[in-house]
Amino acid sequence: MNRLFFRFFILVMLSITAATFVVYFVFARLYGDPLDDIARRQASAQIFLLEHYVDQAPADEWLVRLNKVREVSKAHFDLIPLDQARAALPRGALAAFERGEIVLDPGRKTLLRRVDLGGDRYIGSNEDAISASGLPIDLGQALLMEVVRYVVVALALLVPIALWSRSHWQGLQMLSRVADEFGAGKLSARAAMKPSDAAYPLAGRINAMAERIQGLLESQKNLLHSVSHELRTPIARLQFALELLADPPGAPAAGAPAAGNPRLAKRIGAMHGDLAELNELVNELLSMSKLDNATEPQRALFEVEPVLRACADGLHPRPATLQLELGAMLGSVDGDRRLLSRAVGNLLRNAQKYAVQTVVLRARRDGGLLEILVDDDGPGIPEEERERIFEAFYRLDRSRDRATGGFGLGLSIARKAVRLHGGTLRVERSPLGGARFAIRLPDGVIAP
Ligand SMILES: Nc1ncnc2c1ncn2[C@@H]1O[C@H](COP(=O)(O)OP(=O)(O)O)[C@@H](O)[C@H]1O
Ligand SMILES: [Mg+2]
Repeated sequence: MNRLFFRFFILVMLSITAATFVVYFVFARLYGDPLDDIARRQASAQIFLLEHYVDQAPADEWLVRLNKVREVSKAHFDLIPLDQARAALPRGALAAFERGEIVLDPGRKTLLRRVDLGGDRYIGSNEDAISASGLPIDLGQALLMEVVRYVVVALALLVPIALWSRSHWQGLQMLSRVADEFGAGKLSARAAMKPSDAAYPLAGRINAMAERIQGLLESQKNLLHSVSHELRTPIARLQFALELLADPPGAPAAGAPAAGNPRLAKRIGAMHGDLAELNELVNELLSMSKLDNATEPQRALFEVEPVLRACADGLHPRPATLQLELGAMLGSVDGDRRLLSRAVGNLLRNAQKYAVQTVVLRARRDGGLLEILVDDDGPGIPEEERERIFEAFYRLDRSRDRATGGFGLGLSIARKAVRLHGGTLRVERSPLGGARFAIRLPDGVIAP
């Protein structure tokens, strides 16, 4: 707000300065130099004396009066020869001087005027000019007064504008806060505003939009959950039916349709495989949708080191070159042990799939941070794919990926599990040449 207001302040000041110059030039064009006008006003007493006291005198008393003026006035009145006066004239003032007008020189604080044009004031007066110096002209002060005037006007403008824009600004800030929260996944974020607020109509629209998006996302989540859930029953039934087909109860072994028919037995075997895959997909989808709907993990304090060792031991088959580098004093985590070991297990299985030879599982405590790193020496992940691989069903289109099976859900699940604990899961480049997946858990969930 302050920066915005400061910019606005500068803009207003610049506009007012520009306007001042425009006014000055327009006035100078239309009505003559405003500075000359100011100087004339400041020297008005001396000009008055000259025009209304000296000039009104009868011809023979003229000089007497001029001398009286010299006595009473602080300015210094003199009679000087015309040539000298012409030489001292400010630029561009000769014509006015020759017409008999008073010519001011604000810089030198002087004025010059011919005594008279026709010489009828007194003999020879047409060869002289009246010069007054030391006039009370102070342009600096006059300009300062102008500046003060404009600054006061500018401030008087700015204060109501500032107050007015502050309420707008607060409304906009609230909206951007809501947008940030909503974008960060807090779908219940809404803007609460009074109908009198300037941004109220906008807030209403944003709230309606948020409501709709929240509804859509929730129905999508529910759909995913229900579909996966509903699929379990037919899958179980199919599995059961296949078992029966291969080996019906009560029938002699030879009576089974598959028995003695190797082609059928092979087909049934393949169907078992397909069903197992389908089952796994459904299970993964279900755990993903559970994670989507969870806002808090089930918390319990567990020690990190044994869990990581169990993850490594759970690998099938355990790669010969799996190295564990677990730092000392890894401490405990207050969270869902099953979820976190599942995330680590996913990363390890991926690393095992893609590694050429070596997989390293590292963990260390770094101040308020627990870092779990899974490194491999495989092909790694190209820079531009490093965010996308965490999307559900996203797999890099490499021949290796197709050969390794999987649905592209593992990383998505792992990231959701880590995020649920307030941590981050990122992929980087491993010093081994392949990919490094890094789980970082913050202070809040780790304990000594
Ligand atoms: N350690 C790794 N090295 C190289 N690529 C990887 C690695 N881990 C994951 N990937 C890439 O990320 C994709 C997504 O991984 P994941 O979500 O676990 O799905 P899945 O393992 O089912 O393919 C994988 O298909 C693979 O292309
Ligand atoms: Mg995987």
